Order: sequence, then structure tokens, then C-alpha cells
Amino acid sequence: MYGVAMAEYAFLINFGVLAVVALIIGIMMRISHKKEVAKRTRLAEIAKKRAGLLKSINKIHWEDQFAIDGGVIDKGNKTLFDLVNEFNESIPILQLPGEMLSILASLKKYTQTHFPREEKLQLTSDFPFFEDHKKEHEALIEKLNGLIKKVMQTKEDNVIDVAAEITSFLEKWITGHVLESDLSLKPYVDRLRENVKSKSEPQP
Ligand SMILES: [Fe+2]
Repeated sequence: MYGVAMAEYAFLINFGVLAVVALIIGIMMRISHKKEVAKRTRLAEIAKKRAGLLKSINKIHWEDQFAIDGGVIDKGNKTLFDLVNEFNESIPILQLPGEMLSILASLKKYTQTHFPREEKLQLTSDFPFFEDHKKEHEALIEKLNGLIKKVMQTKEDNVIDVAAEITSFLEKWITGHVLESDLSLKPYVDRLRENVKSKSEPQP
């Protein structure tokens, strides 16, 4: 009689343990399923944002009409076009925010050599908008530094949002600065070239 009671007791204990284990497994499976659904939703949202961003981007092409000095300044601006295209071409495979840093670092390096060189040419050619132009350069550098900081703090989920902000900034840099502000320097560089040429020609 005592043996039967013990057996029933042991059965109930085992049953209870099994029930708890089954409950824990069920909860874990439910959590895992929720995480999987959340992950799929997140990836779908990123894919949607990426597709939207890619649709809005046009490849930019250097044209001879953008030329300012036919030399180092044009070469520098062509480098900017290349970097902008390189950045945009990286978007289809962009996964981690850190992957954007190498192009931003190249842009920063570009400003450190290109802007002082361009400003020197502006002073030499008596460009009347030098001060305002220099301020534009400073604002571009400040924005670029801000974006680099932002990328370093960006979470993986927001990578496309930040890429979109950088693309927009680069487009404004090309259209607003290179194709407008920089191009306004051309007549002054042409005049400087004419002056140098006329002085170097033998006087009658
Ligand atoms: Fe400039």
C-alpha cells in the first residue's frame, strides 16, 4: 500500500516537472518566434527604405562645362563626383553604419587639400566672394564632421536613414556648392589667366 502511494507521488512529481519543462520550452519558443517575426519585420522595413533611397539617387557625371581652371581644382571636384558616386553605389550592399566611414574619411581628406587650394586661387584671382565662399567651406566641413560623429553612434537598424541623410548632403554639396558657388569663380580665373598671358607676351 505504501509502495503504491510512493509510486503515485513520484508520478505526480515527475508529471509536475515535465509540465514545468514543457511550459518553459513553450515560452522560449514563443519568445524565439516573436524575435524572428520582429527581425523579419525590421529587415523588410530596411529593404523598403533602401529601395526608396535607391530610386531617388541619380548618378552624377562630370561635364566639361563644370570646369573652373582646367587643372587641380577641376581634378579635385572630379574626385568629389567620384566619391559621391562611390558612396551611392555602396548603398545596395550597405549593412553596417561603420561601412560608410571610409568614404566620409576620404571626403574629409579631400576638403583638407582641396579647399585651401581653391581659396588660394580665389585670393590670387581677386574673387570678390572669397569670405562667403570660405564660410561655405567651413559649414561643409562642420556638417561632414557632424555626420561622421552621427555614423559612429548609429545603430544597425538606422543605417539607411543615415545613408539617406549623407546622400542628401552630398547632392547639395555637388549642386549647391560645386555647380554654383565654385563655378562663379571661373570668370575671375579666366581673367587672371588673360592678365598673366598678356604680361608674358613681348611688348611692342
Ligand atoms: Fe568651393
